[in-house]
Amino acid sequence: MKITVIGGGSTYTPELVDGFARLGFPVEEIALVDPDPDRLAVIAPLARRILARQGHPALVSAGADPDAGIDGAAAVLFQLRIGGQDARHVDETLPHACGCIGQETTGAGGLAKALRTVPVVLDLAERVAARAPQAWIIDFANPVGIVTRALLDAGHRAVGLCNVAIGFQRTFADWLGVDHDRITLDHVGLNHLTWERAVLLDGVDVLPRLLDEHGPALAARLHMPLDVVRRLGVIPSYYLRYYYAHDEVLAEQLVTPSRAEEVAAMERDLLKLYADPALDEKPALLDQRGGAYYSEAAVQLVHALTADTGEVRVANVRNNGTLPFLSDDAVIEVPAKVGVHGAAALPVAPVEPLFAGLIAHVTAYEELALEAALHGGVERVSNALLAHPLIGQIDTAEQLARKLVAANRQHLRWA
Ligand code: G6P
Ligand code: MN
Repeated sequence: MKITVIGGGSTYTPELVDGFARLGFPVEEIALVDPDPDRLAVIAPLARRILARQGHPALVSAGADPDAGIDGAAAVLFQLRIGGQDARHVDETLPHACGCIGQETTGAGGLAKALRTVPVVLDLAERVAARAPQAWIIDFANPVGIVTRALLDAGHRAVGLCNVAIGFQRTFADWLGVDHDRITLDHVGLNHLTWERAVLLDGVDVLPRLLDEHGPALAARLHMPLDVVRRLGVIPSYYLRYYYAHDEVLAEQLVTPSRAEEVAAMERDLLKLYADPALDEKPALLDQRGGAYYSEAAVQLVHALTADTGEVRVANVRNNGTLPFLSDDAVIEVPAKVGVHGAAALPVAPVEPLFAGLIAHVTAYEELALEAALHGGVERVSNALLAHPLIGQIDTAEQLARKLVAANRQHLRWA
């Protein structure tokens, strides 16, 4: 089996390759595709050393040509970042001028990222359809909800992936001192807009116990006061903080470096470490990135899609009636049954108004964001911002639309 990684020059790649090696996944070739030859020259040899150390026989190929990389693949992972950390820095800081938080996937920054990413991803997906028509696309490229919807609307075989759910599952298992396979989550919402309504240990809800026994650690992880989490009675993902504490986050952002600046510095150090021919495992520094367990989530998904296991994994999939207050076409993030025919959302308990309103609001924004990404135009960008719960005012939406289009012009075919 061949697996292709688009954005293979990412500093996350050693994490991914480590996952395939550690879990003994039966892959014969890992093809790394990236436009940056300098990165590939460092990452591909490290990937080979990681596999060799663990005695995994897979070959690693590397190159800039997506067609050659995709040819004959069983699965293609998208982990690209158009514009790199420089563009991310703009996403994270430009909204400040209008009194809004800056974030790479939430709010105006997320919209800018969608505008840059959707056309490139669709172009690559066409190549997958032509060169590897049976392949599954696993999209980790943000904003995952919007990008997955773009792929599915265009008829591609795609599933969206995020590590928030697996991160919670693994953390809770550690806290409870149990094997992670015994933990399942009642995880509901949209990508980066989710709540854990129950944490099931062998089918029994232990969320109240987690709140009682691990409250302070949980509050610290979410950056939210414990009494708020208790009152909600659910565990929101830390992305909810951008909504629940918007002004507080903005005040913090104004006096701290952007995450893009932090990550850029980390990437410089990581690439130096990766270049050391003696290094044959992923370094601890990589754990400071947000993508913990990304590799395991990706390997699980590829396995379920190719071996037709029918296992349940949290994924970004079509709504198809699961959340009755959204259109069938919406893409939601919930537990899904995964097999060779793709990932299908499992039924979920009715969603309380406290969450349903925000889910519906952001879904409408995502639909308009996709319109803007597909068809361009400052007016469509402005409409999407007007529909976003964190923006929603005409002056702010229009100003931000003009600013973010101007700042991203080099990445937008229509601007
Ligand atoms: C989490 C999210 C990803 C996001 C990442 C950012 O893993 O699920 O979607 O890309 O955090 O991590 P970073 O280290 O780049 O800030
Ligand atoms: Mn994510």
